[in-house]
Amino acid sequence: MKHKFDFVTETLEKIKSRNLYRKLHDNRVQGPYILFKKKKLINLCSNDYLGLGSSKIPNLQLQSSSRLVAGNDFSFSILEKKLADHKSQESALIFPTGYMANLGSIPVLAQKGDLILSDELNHASIIEACRISDAKISVYKHNDAENLKKKIRQKADRKFIVTEGIFSMNGDFADLKRISEIADKNNAILVLDDAHGLILLFYY
Ligand SMILES: Cc1ncc(COP(=O)(O)O)c(C=O)c1O
Repeated sequence: MKHKFDFVTETLEKIKSRNLYRKLHDNRVQGPYILFKKKKLINLCSNDYLGLGSSKIPNLQLQSSSRLVAGNDFSFSILEKKLADHKSQESALIFPTGYMANLGSIPVLAQKGDLILSDELNHASIIEACRISDAKISVYKHNDAENLKKKIRQKADRKFIVTEGIFSMNGDFADLKRISEIADKNNAILVLDDAHGLILLFYY
């Protein structure tokens, strides 16, 4: 049987074969300038090519536009590495808000033919993210493993269980032990929004 994450590698390979793969290029973004192959160039694909954004605040480091388009200031990569280490993960990707993190991840993973099992008390941003995916959505009773077990029997190409870690409205904990067991048994991918469970402690 295929591993449940094989589709990610396969999809990335397809994107690469069509020359559509985009990756971040670490750089030092300095107002209107960018360092490229050790040369200081005017960055005409930023939103700050006149340098007005940083002129009043000396030494302020600014990412003046899209990280993919205008060069990725390496301070972001340093932060992402720290976040990944903190969560014992291979890598991390920063989004500006929790809403955008859900919108930028759930519909990318869950496609037509897939099934999303979503806790009924999930945050509105998760609900929106599920809705804009092409997957079928099945809402299970709050934190109810038995109800989840029933709903996950439906046929689908891939299955995703989406839950919060600590629920934003009630403050209760998802039963992650049982939910991850159900995910494993059904070859489903568990997507966890841990906005209220994450504690960040960085020491410099
Ligand atoms: C669990 C959860 N996910 C996502 C969000 C959305 O986060 P943001 O307000 O940063 O868009 C919230 C907001 O409270 C939340 O509680």
